[in-house]
Amino acid sequence: MTDTVEAQASLEAILKDEIINMYQEVAENPEGEFHFYHGRPAAEMFGYRADWLGRAPAASVASFAGVGNPHERSEMQPGETVLDLGSGAGLDAIIASWAVGPSGKVIGIDLNPTMCLKAQAHAAQSGTTMECHEASMEDIPQPDASVDVIISNGVINLSFRKRKVVEEMFRVLEPGGRISITDIVSAKQLSQSIVNDPKLWAS
Ligand SMILES: C[S@@+](CC[C@H](N)C(=O)[O-])C[C@H]1O[C@@H](n2cnc3c(N)ncnc32)[C@H](O)[C@@H]1O
Repeated sequence: MTDTVEAQASLEAILKDEIINMYQEVAENPEGEFHFYHGRPAAEMFGYRADWLGRAPAASVASFAGVGNPHERSEMQPGETVLDLGSGAGLDAIIASWAVGPSGKVIGIDLNPTMCLKAQAHAAQSGTTMECHEASMEDIPQPDASVDVIISNGVINLSFRKRKVVEEMFRVLEPGGRISITDIVSAKQLSQSIVNDPKLWAS
C-alpha cells in the first residue's frame, strides 16, 4: 500500500468506530447534547407526519438522527421491496414498512449490529417488521436488481467512498427503481482540519 492509501484506510477505521459510538450514543442517551438535530424536534422540523410520530415507538422517534424527509418523494407502494441504507434506530424503516404493507418488505443495513437489533425491536413494537443486516453501504449484501426503492437519511455523507455507495445502489436497484435520499452536502471545500477530524466527519 502507498502511504496515502494506508493513511486513508486507517482514518476510515477510526471514522467507523466514531460513527458506531456516536449513533449508538444517540440511541441510548437521546437527551444528551449532540451538535446535530435529532429526535422528535428534528422529525417535526423535516415534516414527518404527526400520526407517524404518534404511532412509532417513542424510542425510535427520540433516537431519530436523519437530516431530512426521504418519504416525501419516495412514493412507496404496497408490495414493494425497500432498502434503507444506515437504518439506525429504525424510524424511517418503520414508516417504509407501513407504506409497503405486509406484502412488501423492508431491509435495513447498518454498520452497527446494536442499531440493527434496536431497529428490528422497534419495528416489532410498532406491529410491523423489517430485517436488518450488519453491513456497510459500500458493500451491500443484496443481489443485483433486487429492490424497488432505496431510502437513506443522513448517512451517505458519512462515507469515505461515496462513489462506491452510488455504484452499489445502482447494482441492487431494479430497472426503473427509485432512490429517495436526504443528505447533507457542503457548497464549500472543507478545510483539511475538518476532513481529518473523525468526530466532525461522523456527525
Ligand atoms: C443518520 S443515522 C440514520 C437515521 C435513520 N434513518 C433513522 O430513522 O433514525 C446513521 C446510521 O447510519 C449508520 N451508518 C453510518 N455509516 C454507515 C455505513 N457506511 N454503512 C452502513 N450504515 C452506516 C450508523 O451506524 C447509524 O446507525
